[in-house]
Amino acid sequence: MTASPRLFEPLTLRGVTLPNRIVISPMCQYTAEDGFPTDWHFAHLAKFALGGAGCVFFEASAVVPEGRITHGDLGIWSDDHAERLRPIVDFLESQGSVAGIQIAHAGRKAASQRPWHGNGPLDETDAARGEEQWPVVAPSPLAMADGWLMPAELDRAGMDEIRDAFVAAARRSDAIGIDVLEIHGAHGYLLHSFLSPVSNTRTDDYGGALENRMRYPLEVAEAVRAAWPEDKPLFFRISAVDGLEEGGWQIEDSVALASALKEVGIDVIDCSSGGIGGGATAARIPRTEGFQVPFAAAVRAQAGIATMAVGLILEAAHAEEILMAGETDLIAIAREALWNPFWPRHAAKSLGIADHYETWPEQYSWWLSRRDKFMGR
Ligand SMILES: Cc1cc2nc3c(=O)[nH]c(=O)nc-3n(C[C@H](O)[C@H](O)[C@H](O)COP(=O)(O)O)c2cc1C
Repeated sequence: MTASPRLFEPLTLRGVTLPNRIVISPMCQYTAEDGFPTDWHFAHLAKFALGGAGCVFFEASAVVPEGRITHGDLGIWSDDHAERLRPIVDFLESQGSVAGIQIAHAGRKAASQRPWHGNGPLDETDAARGEEQWPVVAPSPLAMADGWLMPAELDRAGMDEIRDAFVAAARRSDAIGIDVLEIHGAHGYLLHSFLSPVSNTRTDDYGGALENRMRYPLEVAEAVRAAWPEDKPLFFRISAVDGLEEGGWQIEDSVALASALKEVGIDVIDCSSGGIGGGATAARIPRTEGFQVPFAAAVRAQAGIATMAVGLILEAAHAEEILMAGETDLIAIAREALWNPFWPRHAAKSLGIADHYETWPEQYSWWLSRRDKFMGR
């Protein structure tokens, strides 16, 4: 009898069916040129579709050039940028994966160095390489940490512009055939920095009480939902907790936000954590296997919305356990997929799906299934 693990049950969200529950989490490659993808992006993402992921996400793609984390970020601020993603979308779909994209604005963490150039704010060394700083914006004039750029406080016109840029990015994503859209509301970037009291000290309708701090991210979500087709699902990534020694955004806040996001038509809450600030208040969450799963479970149970769990989910059996326990609806993997892009296909075998080669590309399955027979495995 063929096992039917939950990890390989399709999931239909609105009009889109993911063939299994495995999602390749957005992973910046810091390798774009003026926001345009390179061959690297094709190779990087294509292999995850060959590897059998149900959904493959493009990395955080900036809705305006100044919203990039680094000079190497992907952008989706023009139709030309979107069109250059289309061949990748087509390939992912030709292999049976659903294409997703995360749209983002880095806020006060924009104008940073690529990780391998130091992961800090851009400085003279970077300028010498032609990578100049640019002015950054945020809800309040508070730098990320000592030595980071001081952001300008966004006014209403600036907030409208960025909201509209998110909407335009959503329309472009739809136009090139992307079926899953995620708004990046985590990791200390712009939308998260509105949510957290650590980075938002505004005294207008967008700061102070939780309801006020949630207002702008909700406005963006609502506007994007109105532009994104009814039959396509919309995800929202949160930092479920800031994870500071004291204060900051808490899981109860995430439950309240998830409930409000559900009201405006968000379908899935992608539960990450941390990223709001460095220095003395750096994140303290212990990084053990599945460390963020309890956040996905809390949001799912208390806000009654589908969730995606992410963070050190390494083993197929563990992923299956999490799903069977009702803690989440989707499993996102990032670094483990860098290590093993065929993780989903190997997971199918290890969870006992006897005819798993039927879903492999025939260019590979023909050989591998025969090799298994010769080898008696
Ligand atoms: C190379 C790399 C790039 C990443 N870029 C993004 C990104 O663009 N957007 C995002 O929300 N998270 C990003 N992340 C975080 C991952 O999506 C994921 O949440 C995190 O790595 C934890 O999952 P893992 O333990 O399976 O790697 C990135 C992680 C890595 C390793």
